[in-house]
Amino acid sequence: MKVDLFFKNARQLISPVAQTGGIGELQIIENAGIGCFQGKITAVGPTEKLQQEIELIPDANVIDVSNKLIAPAFVDPHTHPVFWGTRENEFVMRIEGKSYREIAEAGGGIRYSVRQLRKASEEQLIEASLPHLNHFLKSGTTTIEAKSGYGLTFEDELKSLRVLKKLNQIHPIEIIPTFLGAHEIPDEYRNNRRQYIDLLINEMIPQVTEEKLAEFCDVFCEEHVFTVDESREILTAAKDAGLELKIHADQLTAGGGSELAAELGAISADHLDHASRSAMELLKQHGVIPVLLPGAVFYLGLSRYAPAREMIELGLPVALATDFNPGSCMTQSMPIILTIACIYMKLLPHEALIAATLNAARAINRDQSIGSLEVGKDADFVILNIPNINYLPYHFGVNHVDKVVKKGALVIG
Ligand code: NIG
Ligand code: FE
Repeated sequence: MKVDLFFKNARQLISPVAQTGGIGELQIIENAGIGCFQGKITAVGPTEKLQQEIELIPDANVIDVSNKLIAPAFVDPHTHPVFWGTRENEFVMRIEGKSYREIAEAGGGIRYSVRQLRKASEEQLIEASLPHLNHFLKSGTTTIEAKSGYGLTFEDELKSLRVLKKLNQIHPIEIIPTFLGAHEIPDEYRNNRRQYIDLLINEMIPQVTEEKLAEFCDVFCEEHVFTVDESREILTAAKDAGLELKIHADQLTAGGGSELAAELGAISADHLDHASRSAMELLKQHGVIPVLLPGAVFYLGLSRYAPAREMIELGLPVALATDFNPGSCMTQSMPIILTIACIYMKLLPHEALIAATLNAARAINRDQSIGSLEVGKDADFVILNIPNINYLPYHFGVNHVDKVVKKGALVIG
């Protein structure tokens, strides 16, 4: 097989095994190498074996990664990266004792970010988002799902989605867009929620699909935000328009979001900190991927994490994401999320890695092309300066990413 980019002599190559059920299995190859050609993986295995088999093209790039690990790049299946202005004041308010919900009800939270984003132009938002994307890439993430949801008018939601489209064209990170017009009821509709829901269904969703600006539609289904019935109505309209579904479910209360995800055949149900046993069983029955966001629990200073072990015992393919956003989780680092997931949800490091790669890819319908290192898949991987997978969440808060490859291009290192 032809190779134009070859990494050799890695201490280990680690990758989820494709097509296993449940959380999945991690495969480890010692003294490993990986070869790519025109953006795809063409060879994976022990270095010595590969050296005999591969056909290096003239001018091929050969890189020695002795003592390092090769792993799939992280896939982050839940982020909110398009916003204008930050909310460190709320971070301080929470330290002083206010809750996330109290801040939201006083007009802060998502609604604050909405008022800010409406003031920004498309160009300004692109400019502001680029450094955020750079942080993702430097932390080893090469694909993100990204939501709108800080505009909440026809124009501002479309503006956010156009920003994502443009960012996807100009930055190495691959961005999978989600329409989250139902992130909150905006200030001007607080006394007329019905009218906002009509606007979502009759105007925004048709335009989003007409311009092909999103692949998924998401709703923040929560007691003080969108009710289960409202969420059902919005998501059904989105499904009819051809979008796949995601739900912010059972984050702050057990609000029926998981049951709705199962009922509608959503691809994922996200957060799930308060998911009940019966809700988890429904997710399993209906093939809904649980996307867990322990970074938001940690960052909001809450103590109830999603019951990840129970989900794994039930055979659910648990996925992890950052939830990167200016309010409830201001980090792009999947490695930090792995540390939090291991400590507070008792994921083993190898399970956390699978959750952050192949299972994360499943949550955005990309498991055929990314999330594991196999011949034929995209050459999306990272070189980590660590001795084994357990070391990654163990030595936290520093960046172990030495190199990043996206579709066969060396984008970091
Ligand atoms: O996923 N849960 C709803 N939305 C975000 C928070 C967004 C914000 O606070 O700005 C989340 O946690
Ligand atoms: Fe979120």
